[in-house]
Amino acid sequence: MSGFFEIESLCSGYGQSEVIHGITMSVQPKEIVAIMGRNGMGKTTFFKTLIGAIKNTQGEIKLDGKNLEKLDAYQRVQSGVAYVPQGRMIFGTMSVLENIQTGLPASAHGKVPDDLYDLFPVLWDMRKRKGGNLSGGQQQQLAIARALATNPKVLLLDEPTEGIQPSIIKDIAKTLKEIRDQRDLTIIVSEQVLSFTMAMADRFLVLDKGRFAYENVKQNVDESTISKYLSV
Ligand SMILES: Nc1ncnc2c1ncn2[C@@H]1O[C@H](COP(=O)(O)OP(=O)(O)O)[C@@H](O)[C@H]1O
Ligand SMILES: [Mg+2]
Repeated sequence: MSGFFEIESLCSGYGQSEVIHGITMSVQPKEIVAIMGRNGMGKTTFFKTLIGAIKNTQGEIKLDGKNLEKLDAYQRVQSGVAYVPQGRMIFGTMSVLENIQTGLPASAHGKVPDDLYDLFPVLWDMRKRKGGNLSGGQQQQLAIARALATNPKVLLLDEPTEGIQPSIIKDIAKTLKEIRDQRDLTIIVSEQVLSFTMAMADRFLVLDKGRFAYENVKQNVDESTISKYLSV
C-alpha cells in the first residue's frame, strides 16, 4: 500500500447482511475524491465503517502509515479522521459556539481557533444563536467547522448538498477547495449531485451495491456514465 489514506478489501454491514463487499481505494495527500452513488448503494455504511461507527468484518484502513481498523471511533478522530454526517446532525438546542466546541480537542480548552471563523465568518456572527435556527447552508458550514476543529488529516463528507439550495451548493464546493489548499487536507465526499463534485473533485468513483463500478480522474471522467448510475 502506498497512498496516504489506504483502504484495502474492506467489508462491513449490519448483522448477517454484508453491505460493503471488499472495497479497495488509495487516496493521495490533498486529493479530493468523490464517491458517487444513488440511495442505498452503501455510501453512508462505507463512511461509518471508516470512522469506526460500524466495525469492519474484513480488510484494512490505514492513514499516514497507521492502521485504524481496530481503533475506537474517538481514537480515529485523534489519528486525523473527521466526518461530516449525512443530514449534518447539528445539535439544535445548543448554540453555534457550543456545536463547534464539541469538535475541539480537550487541549483547546473551549477556545475556537480564529482561522475557523475566518473560513466561515457567518458562524462568528451567529455564534450565540441556536444551531436549529440556522439555514441549511449555515448548518452545513457549522458541521464542516465542527469537523475541522479536530484538525484532521482527512475529511469525510456524506452527501453535503442534500437539502441545500442550489445557489449555496457552488459556495460549498469553492470553500472546500480553499480548505484543502490552506490546510493540506485530504477530502472524500459522497454525493448524488454530479455538478457539485465536478466543481471540486480530482477523481471520481461510483459505488454500486457496495462495490466500485467505475473510476476515473476528472480530466477523463465520462459524466454520462456516472449519471446512468445515479438515475434509478
Ligand atoms: N441500520 C441499518 N440496518 C440494516 N441495514 C441498513 C442500515 N442502514 C443501512 N442499511 C442498508 O444498507 C444498504 C446501504 O445503505 P446506506 O449505506 O445508507 O446507502 P447510501 O448512503 O448510499 O444511501 C441499504 O440496503 C440499506 O437498506
Ligand atoms: Mg447515505
